[in-house]
Amino acid sequence: MRIVLGVGGGIAAYKVASLLRLFTEAGHHVTVIPTEASTRFVGTATWEALSGNPVSNSVFDDVHQVNHVRLGHEADLVVVAPATADLLSKAAAGQAGDLLTNTLLMASGPVLFAPAMHTEMWQHAATRANVETLRSRGVAVLEPASGRLTGSDSGPGRLPEPEDIFAAAMALMHGDTDIALPLAGRTVTISAGGTREPLDPVRFLGNRSSGKQGVALAVAARNAGATVRLLAAHMEVPAPPGVETVSVETALQLREAALAAAADSDVVIMSAAVADFRPAEISGTKIKKRDDTADPVISLVRNPDILQELVELRNQGPEREDQLIVGFAAETGDEQGGVLAYAQAKLQRKGCDLLVVNHVGADKVFGQDTNAVVILSRSGSEPQEAAGTKTEVAAAVIRRIGCELNHVPHRA
Ligand code: C5P
Repeated sequence: MRIVLGVGGGIAAYKVASLLRLFTEAGHHVTVIPTEASTRFVGTATWEALSGNPVSNSVFDDVHQVNHVRLGHEADLVVVAPATADLLSKAAAGQAGDLLTNTLLMASGPVLFAPAMHTEMWQHAATRANVETLRSRGVAVLEPASGRLTGSDSGPGRLPEPEDIFAAAMALMHGDTDIALPLAGRTVTISAGGTREPLDPVRFLGNRSSGKQGVALAVAARNAGATVRLLAAHMEVPAPPGVETVSVETALQLREAALAAAADSDVVIMSAAVADFRPAEISGTKIKKRDDTADPVISLVRNPDILQELVELRNQGPEREDQLIVGFAAETGDEQGGVLAYAQAKLQRKGCDLLVVNHVGADKVFGQDTNAVVILSRSGSEPQEAAGTKTEVAAAVIRRIGCELNHVPHRA
């Protein structure tokens, strides 16, 4: 395939050498078009040597080949990395002052931008508007990664890893436009962490959930283009940037927040570990330890099942009939049945569309950075396995949700 690789003028240009390598090693013919500014970071010799093709950004070089028209026209894919705020602005405005912007105007195949810039620039209203304009024209603009930026600052703005850009590029080239941004224009509500049910002003009943999987889901959904609402119960990790976060403590508070957020959400993912029971009474003062009284007894009452209630509300009317509801299940098998048998029964009982099943044990899942899940579907399709870091598992779950929403068959 013929790929045009536009390189923008940002420090992340050096990482694009690895991306170019991935393309050429996969057998693609790559023409690199560096902007004038980018050559102050990486020289044209690097691009010529790695691509094996001549490199220019002038519309006046090799005029007889009409490069400013031909390159975009012939390209099966145009990738811009790093896509700077300046390049996004020029592309959105349709400027054509150099070979790269001409090529973007001529491109008849898919176009992928991999942005990199400082967080403030990425979040600036002007950049947001440019990204929206480009996406509305069918251009794939990846979300930048979060982390350390050029100086001592950190936040969203890092160039996505070359492997991730490569994967998105390949998906786009194979016509899988939803893979790059499967949740663009969707609102996704995600509950994360573990609820805490107070006994008195200092004590609570809690659970081992760290919130890591829920936060990874929020990041993956955000990166897939969704507007994300995170309903954060107790978490050991911070809420990620770029998502609207509502903090809750108890199951009842989470229920209220979930019912409100679900009203206009396309997707609801209940990954929080919600306490099934809460103390029947909350003492207004600290329960005292006294040697002369009997051991205290805690009476528990049942918490409402939020997931089930969300499903019932969805099923009540036509307004939300397309809403996709995803539950999580932490299961252990026993003599009566295996993990999957219990999970299938739970899926039917709860009525959600997808159930993400973890096999838990004392040292498994809770607080760990890795996870292995099986995704069960109410529509009865084959169980889908996903394993790896919680980030990888989250990406698989979000991809699957994208397939369900966009009615694209998923690949196991
Ligand atoms: O029944 P179980 O607690 O195993 O079900 C887990 C799923 O149900 C999770 O998606 C969890 O967020 C949700 N849940 C809920 N309300 C409860 C208990 C669990 O929404 N009270």
